[in-house]
Parts: sequence; structure tokens; C-alpha cells
Amino acid sequence: MNIAVFVSGNGTNLQALINAERKEGLSGGKIALVVSNKPEAYALGRAKAAGIKTFVLEKKGFASREEYDKKTLERLRKEDIELVVLAGFMRILSAGFIDEYADRIINIHPSLLPDFKGAHGIKDAFEAGAGTTGVTVHFVAEELDSGPVILQEEVKIEQEDTLERLEEKIHKVEHKLYPKAVRLFVEGKLKVEGKKVKIKGE
Ligand code: GAR
Repeated sequence: MNIAVFVSGNGTNLQALINAERKEGLSGGKIALVVSNKPEAYALGRAKAAGIKTFVLEKKGFASREEYDKKTLERLRKEDIELVVLAGFMRILSAGFIDEYADRIINIHPSLLPDFKGAHGIKDAFEAGAGTTGVTVHFVAEELDSGPVILQEEVKIEQEDTLERLEEKIHKVEHKLYPKAVRLFVEGKLKVEGKKVKIKGE
């Protein structure tokens, strides 16, 4: 199954998926394309180093989100992409895109959704003085950082944690959880029922 990973920044989650594919495999899933809206994204270098094709599309020059997404969809069709994995992709997808890939787009977010949505999930939980936060992998719905939850794992915020230390703890969990979620998808074990995800065998 061909997978496209969408990135905008550092790409540590992309790297975790690349490593997982190399070491234990992704149950037959293959990262066939890395898509970025930012030409300067560090993640693109990681893709190139791993020999993965990249597709960079900046928003300038496009009249609308739909027009932009149409171009991306053309490329995904060309590469026979069956699963879209958002890994720090900081751009909202259009309704048309989400429709075409309904229940085939997953996202990772650094909090226990629905808490601390948005671009600063770790910092917001830390500054709120929460005792617990975590990581969520979910199917993507139209509303930002929402959609049926696939996997969640808690991360405790200890008294002695700094923001940097909390970020490290969260990323460590993300890098373990995302390959696991991708494997479950590729194995056909995830079934969306309304707002819930049923995992076969659990
Ligand atoms: C990750 O922590 C991911 O959960 C977060 O962006 C970071 C990307 O890091 N995503 C969101 O906040 C989505 N709302 P990476 O580029 O090193 O993988």
C-alpha cells in the first residue's frame, strides 16, 4: 500500500516512520511520497536521504484552498496513494480533499484531544498547568484537530518538567505510536463507526 506523508517542518515523525519501515516494516505499507507546503522544510532532506520522492507545493499562486488541493490530489492519484499521513503538516485540508480520501487520512497531535487543539498543543498544556497530556492519532475530519480517535497515550507532566523536557517526552511517544497506527491501517484493522474507531482483535 502506497503511503504519502505530509510535512511542513522538522519531520521527526516522518523519520520515525522511515525508520520503522526499514527496521520492522509497516506491514507492507510503503512511504512512496513526501508532500510539503514549505520548500525549506527540514523534513524534505530526510525524505531525499531515504530516497523517497518529494512533492513541494507552495500556496502562493493559488486562488483557493480547493485549487491548491486539486494539484496535490492529481499527484496522489499518479502515485497510487491509498493512505495520507499528516506529520506536522500545518495547513488545513479542503472539504474536497477530505471527501476524496475519506477515512484514509490520519493525523498526529501532541495532546489528548479534544484538549489543547491547535498549533501549540504541548506548550498550551504545559502553560495550563495540566498534570497529564499526551498524544492522539486520529482520522481527519473537516474541523481542525478532530475526527475519530485511533490511538491515544497519556504523558504525565511532572513538577520538574521544563517545556523542552515535556516536548522530548511527547515526541518519544509520538515516534512509537505513529508507526503502530499506520500498521493497523495497512493491516485493515481499523473500522470507523460513526465517531468511533473499532480496532479488530482488541
Ligand atoms: C508533532 O509534534 C505533531 O504532533 C505536531 O507537529 C509536530 C511535528 O513534528 N502536529 C500538530 O500540532 C498538528 N496540530 P515533526 O515535524 O518533528 O514530526
